[in-house]
Amino acid sequence: MALKGLENNDLELIIFGGKGGVGKTCCAVATALALSENFKTLLISTDPAHSVSDCLEQQVGFNLVKIGGTGNLSVIEVVAEEALSGFIAEHQGELKKLLETSTALDDADIEEMLSLTIPGIDEVMSFKTIIDFIEEGQFEKYVVDTAPTGHALRLISSPKMLDEWIKVAAKIRWKYRYMITSFSGSYQPDAVDTFLLGLKKTVNRIENILGNNTKCEFIPVCIPEAMAILETERLLSILAKSEIIGRQIIVNNVMASDECEYCKRRKAGQLPYLKEISKTFENLNMVEVPMFAEEIKGIAALGKLKEVLFKAETNEHNIN
Ligand SMILES: Nc1ncnc2c1ncn2[C@@H]1O[C@H](COP(=O)(O)OP(=O)(O)OP(=O)(O)O)[C@@H](O)[C@H]1O
Ligand SMILES: [Mg+2]
Repeated sequence: MALKGLENNDLELIIFGGKGGVGKTCCAVATALALSENFKTLLISTDPAHSVSDCLEQQVGFNLVKIGGTGNLSVIEVVAEEALSGFIAEHQGELKKLLETSTALDDADIEEMLSLTIPGIDEVMSFKTIIDFIEEGQFEKYVVDTAPTGHALRLISSPKMLDEWIKVAAKIRWKYRYMITSFSGSYQPDAVDTFLLGLKKTVNRIENILGNNTKCEFIPVCIPEAMAILETERLLSILAKSEIIGRQIIVNNVMASDECEYCKRRKAGQLPYLKEISKTFENLNMVEVPMFAEEIKGIAALGKLKEVLFKAETNEHNIN
């Protein structure tokens, strides 16, 4: 089987996730390369490990870089900490004022709260950068490579965490507003209200796109090993709670050859896990990727992976 439906015009955001080291980056980059042949594509790495640069063998960073020798592909790294420090620098004043207008906090409390990070805010800010790109509409496809499972889950759950924080902040504001209105008879929304409203809008925009299964697709990458299967199951069930439904799964590192004793034994060892994967994820389109003899680095090697992911007939390995 090959990856299906990624060329649908409505589908804009494709997020790859899975356990550490299973091949997420390679699959995300190969997918972006394939899509870039027909669509203006942006590959976004949210992994601080700079692995997209290594995989493409081209330096990419915090500014958009157009990748030569491909279709229409650009790459950018969006790192949560960077996005967060930009946000804090921009909104320090509003945050401080929000806390100052809380009657229950003294100066020491305020200083302490300002030094703590708002839960989920760093990931939300990196997501916001992605959503801003989507809303600017400069590209037709956005492919996101995430760091291992925990990170993808944090990314996905960040809007909910931030939403809880906004609710608490809104309560502080509500009390403040009530107090001002009682004393002066009226209340004029200020910069803090605008700030909170802006955050709430960001949360809504992220949730709207994540929960829209025609616009956004999550593709788990797994390997035929016990721990990876368990982690993929956990990942998909948590995603389902956020109404993010996977349609397909990539099973990487499948031993296709049985030309040597080692290959035969690896293949036999993988068989029960491959069967378990087909059973556990029976509702998903399963795309098998063979274990290549060499690591997948550079455009040429990625081209081979792209062929496997997008052209079913090149994948002759059959697990049944
Ligand atoms: N099918 C394959 N055959 C051979 N090597 C592979 C295959 N898939 C991935 N690799 C190699 O395995 C290593 C890990 O791949 P990759 O970086 O894509 O994994 P990852 O899931 O993104 O890892 P991390 O969780 O650290 O981000 C890389 O060196 C890559 O070249
Ligand atoms: Mg990676």
